[in-house]
Amino acid sequence: MSSKTKGEKLNLNRSYAEIKKRRQEIDDVTLSTAALLLKRLKLVEEVGKLKKERNLPVLDVKRENELIKGVLEKLEMSRKEKEYILTVLGIVINESRRIQGFKAEERSKAFYNLFIKAKELETLGKKVVHLEVGEPCYGPPEEAINALKDSLTKKNMSYSSPTGLEEVKKAIIEKVNEENSLDFANENIVLTPGGKFGIYASITTNIKPGEKVIIFNPSWPVYGSLTMKAKGLIGEINTELEKGWRIDSEKLKEEIDENTKMIIINNPCNPTGKIYGEKELEEIVQLAEEKKLLVLADETYSKLTFKPFKTVLEYNYENTIYVDSFSKTYGMTGFRLGYAIGKKEIIDKISSLISLTVTCVPPFIQKAGLAVLETEKEKKYKEFMKGNVSLTDKLLKNQPVKYMKPEGGLYFFIKVLKDKFNSLDFAEKLLEKKRVAVAPGTAFGQKYTEFIRINVSTRKEDLFLGLKEFCEALNSITN
Ligand SMILES: Cc1ncc(COP(=O)(O)O)c(C=O)c1O
Repeated sequence: MSSKTKGEKLNLNRSYAEIKKRRQEIDDVTLSTAALLLKRLKLVEEVGKLKKERNLPVLDVKRENELIKGVLEKLEMSRKEKEYILTVLGIVINESRRIQGFKAEERSKAFYNLFIKAKELETLGKKVVHLEVGEPCYGPPEEAINALKDSLTKKNMSYSSPTGLEEVKKAIIEKVNEENSLDFANENIVLTPGGKFGIYASITTNIKPGEKVIIFNPSWPVYGSLTMKAKGLIGEINTELEKGWRIDSEKLKEEIDENTKMIIINNPCNPTGKIYGEKELEEIVQLAEEKKLLVLADETYSKLTFKPFKTVLEYNYENTIYVDSFSKTYGMTGFRLGYAIGKKEIIDKISSLISLTVTCVPPFIQKAGLAVLETEKEKKYKEFMKGNVSLTDKLLKNQPVKYMKPEGGLYFFIKVLKDKFNSLDFAEKLLEKKRVAVAPGTAFGQKYTEFIRINVSTRKEDLFLGLKEFCEALNSITN
């Protein structure tokens, strides 16, 4: 039995009528929007066809950003309305990329294709010198292996909390605090299955469709691919060898607009080996603070540095997500162990994603990480890398190349001084003919066609052999 009075019933009926009327309007607008979207789709297809005919790349980051900017400038909108429009435009733009045949993985594809080809050759019994992938030859340390064996003997194989074992988090946080005079607590860290998952989680839990992530090129291709997977937009800032790979803060200022949400800084940089100066870092953090942006600091190579290094964490900007990994520092790539540090709200978001997906990093892997933290291996491996960097520098003397000697990390990013040099063609031929795998510069940004990235964390004999073949192949190119 209804307890509503006659008046209340009347009001309710009026509300239903109002809703019905509005819904009719929503139906009409949705229909018109769909018709317009179909018209847009046709145009997108036509542009896609033209790009294909002219061999132009599908992705045009500049154009995408201009399109968004134009809409935001031409229509007056409140903050909430802007957010809504940006999300919808983000989806529409991503669909356009898809229709024109672009895949988020495209940026990393040239690079991974070569890696896969090299692996295929190996399965056919051919020896390949791997100068493409950053897999240090020095690890894993025996302490990690012993800890792993110990865990397995003790059948230490259950789940841990999604953030990781308290003792492991504590040991990492204490080390980070001590090295940089900071005061993070266990609630500020989450262990991740590799640094890459930390980056993936940081992007997907913070970037909504249509929001922009600023990336400094040349860059590790994963940042761009993951941003696009999240239906975000990329703001690219190219840096140049001739300018010492420095970041131009004026360009950064210009690139930041209303839909910018995050700046990614990879220090030391893969592929250039650049360590960003204090002033550059300070300017980036200051700008981020002014515009309330997130800073995603990927410092995966920070323990392999050959000149003084300052972590972004020291700037104490609360919206910083710091990512590091055991892969390169300790040569533990296959262990899949990394971590993210930041304020609790950020860490909680990453932990939720871990809980929903992989549950946790396997505890025996966490223990293997714990075992290497207090060893002297960090210093030893850094010395090894320093030696290989000097050796490579010597072997590349008097070759038709130009580069900045790496200040950190595992790589040389080399400009080849030959007319119309095409890094992808060269890398494919070098693998095919000489069985030496290197990474083409275009994997790190469309502009870097004349560059080749070489991983020098290999055994010395492989480095000698690989560089000999590389230099011979360069010298056989006739202009
Ligand atoms: C710049 C950079 N960040 C992060 C990673 C992630 O490494 P992992 O996922 O093995 O920890 C890599 C690996 O190549 C890298 O080059």
